[in-house]
Amino acid sequence: MTNSQTPQITIAIDGYSSSGKSTMARQLAKTIGYRYIDSGAMYRAVTLYALRHDMINRADNSVNAPLLVASLPEIAIDFKVDGDNQSTLLNGENVETEIRSIAVSQCVSPVAAIPQVRHALVAMQQKMGESKGIVMDGRDIGTTVFPKAEMKVFVRASAQTRAQRRLNEMIEKGIATTFEEILANVVSRDHIDETRDESPLRCADDAIVLDNSVMSVEEQNNWLLDLYKKVVASL
Ligand code: CDP
Repeated sequence: MTNSQTPQITIAIDGYSSSGKSTMARQLAKTIGYRYIDSGAMYRAVTLYALRHDMINRADNSVNAPLLVASLPEIAIDFKVDGDNQSTLLNGENVETEIRSIAVSQCVSPVAAIPQVRHALVAMQQKMGESKGIVMDGRDIGTTVFPKAEMKVFVRASAQTRAQRRLNEMIEKGIATTFEEILANVVSRDHIDETRDESPLRCADDAIVLDNSVMSVEEQNNWLLDLYKKVVASL
């Protein structure tokens, strides 16, 4: 649906954990022929690296921040696109499944709160978006990574709804867990993400807010595509 006359823009989609951001961001990128970047996957990949190198105390999920920061130059993150599938690569290894594990979900927000980790990943993300034509989802895309993005969306839904969606995903993947465990993780990550000092989860002043608690996937995809068309038409 893009053509040579359509300007390439930057699209930032932020919001709460398991709010359906990735689903809608991925679908929009596919429909309009843009690159999609899941910034959360990058924080998850760094977390997996830290777990594998014993930099996280699993008793309380505290991170050995100096050690992790010193290792940042050794961590390369990339994405591999294969048809409709996108995989996250950590130092060349496909870690797409492992970064979605409960262990990574439990440790990722403390890792993402370390300022030097954020600086390194934000710099990578800004480089990825240099030539526009990108949809990126996360927590700070509209506020910190691309504050000048032409289109910004902030997605919210109740914690119960989000936990149920995440549970359905886990069941589909055959991962054993409970609603209570997921709800606790969603609530705890929201809290850490909102209260950290370095670029906390916050709705950008110029973002359009979408509460998708009672929307189907198709409805939210259509809503996002309509918004994109309006934004591009207004340029
Ligand atoms: O998929 P879900 O929404 O549960 O989370 P995610 O997008 O995979 O992100 C995992 C975690 O990374 C979040 O809970 C945040 O702590 C952190 N994150 C962040 O701090 N900044 C971003 N731009 C993206 C993710």
